[in-house]
Amino acid sequence: MLLLNAHPDHNRPLDPADADMLGLEAARNVERFLAYRPNHSPTPLLALPHLASQVGVAAIHVKDESQRLGLGSFKALGGSYAVIRLVLEEASRELGRTVDVNELQTPAVREIAERITVGCATDGNHGKSVAAGATLVGAKAAIFVHSGVTDERVAAIAQFGANIIRVEGTYDDSVAEAERICHENGWIVVSDTSWPGYERIPGLVMQGYTAMLQEALRELPAPPTHVFMQAGVGGLAAAVAGHFDIVFGTVRPKFIVVEPDRAACLYQSATAGQPVRIEPGAPTIMAMLECYEPSLVAWRILSRKADAFMTVSEENAADTMRQLANPGGRDPAIVAGESGAAGLTGLLHALSSAWVKLGLDSSSRIFVINTEGATDQARYEAIVGRSPSDVLA
Ligand SMILES: Cc1ncc(COP(=O)(O)O)c(C=O)c1O
Repeated sequence: MLLLNAHPDHNRPLDPADADMLGLEAARNVERFLAYRPNHSPTPLLALPHLASQVGVAAIHVKDESQRLGLGSFKALGGSYAVIRLVLEEASRELGRTVDVNELQTPAVREIAERITVGCATDGNHGKSVAAGATLVGAKAAIFVHSGVTDERVAAIAQFGANIIRVEGTYDDSVAEAERICHENGWIVVSDTSWPGYERIPGLVMQGYTAMLQEALRELPAPPTHVFMQAGVGGLAAAVAGHFDIVFGTVRPKFIVVEPDRAACLYQSATAGQPVRIEPGAPTIMAMLECYEPSLVAWRILSRKADAFMTVSEENAADTMRQLANPGGRDPAIVAGESGAAGLTGLLHALSSAWVKLGLDSSSRIFVINTEGATDQARYEAIVGRSPSDVLA
């Protein structure tokens, strides 16, 4: 399904606060912070010329986040970055001077970090990022996981020493519970979704993602004409749409938000013309996108800068995972997790009428992000039929 953005705010300039949050100076600062992360190296930008010619476009480029910071998804950039920023802010307050990232491991800053607990709800990847950030700075983490989070994903978070708190219900239930318990205990909520009165920290999380976009922009041979970006609460999609709007201005690429049929809260919000909460339905294999209410900040940006909203089926998402694992021609194999391939699925499975509406043709240059690798290896193998190491061998 495809819906062109007919919101009255479509193409309005970004809110000044959002433009600051996602601007070039902020992105440079995130990259400076990243340099202090162990395991940091830019992730690859992969060209798929064979697939592009098969599909009938000029180019497809995939920013492959499957190895990011050893955590397996782009989420490694956001939650950890926000935790580091918050600890430095607290240290600056307590020490009465500006404390920079190069002081992160000094005894004075460590001592302050040890008194801090950060908490969040997660489908898996964001919680791992927050827990990893807490370990890095010496803070504590409480991570709230709902019933649908698989044991493998929980174990990947627990390895960072986080306190795992299980919550009955959906992702949205875990967000509410995390907020309640963190508030009761004086812990800092580091959420990747935002709501009225709680925007700054999710904004930092989104700001963290801009580093990935700067890396990609340095390598792209030509500006993209179309971006297909998967969305859960919309934080990633909004960070990309907002940052690209700032970088490219009036010649920005067309921006298409892609969600699972089964959890399309942004699509439904676009239909309603305002952010709406949708009823939970059957679970989707795109587990990281299984969100039923958009992030408020993300909606504010996407209602202005998304050009279309579309949904993809379970089968199509699985097809794309297999297609990326078994490329044609000389295209590289890519390990894309269930949610990782969803953006590209939007392009590959768009009906021809959608192509016309989106202005896609043989001159189009597509940019997508493989947002995660095999973060749940058992599920990956069940869908693709091979292990990630076999795929890359
Ligand atoms: C792998 C992956 N892709 C995409 C997303 C969607 O990001 P957002 O919830 O900011 O829309 C997530 C969110 O957790 C994710 O883990």
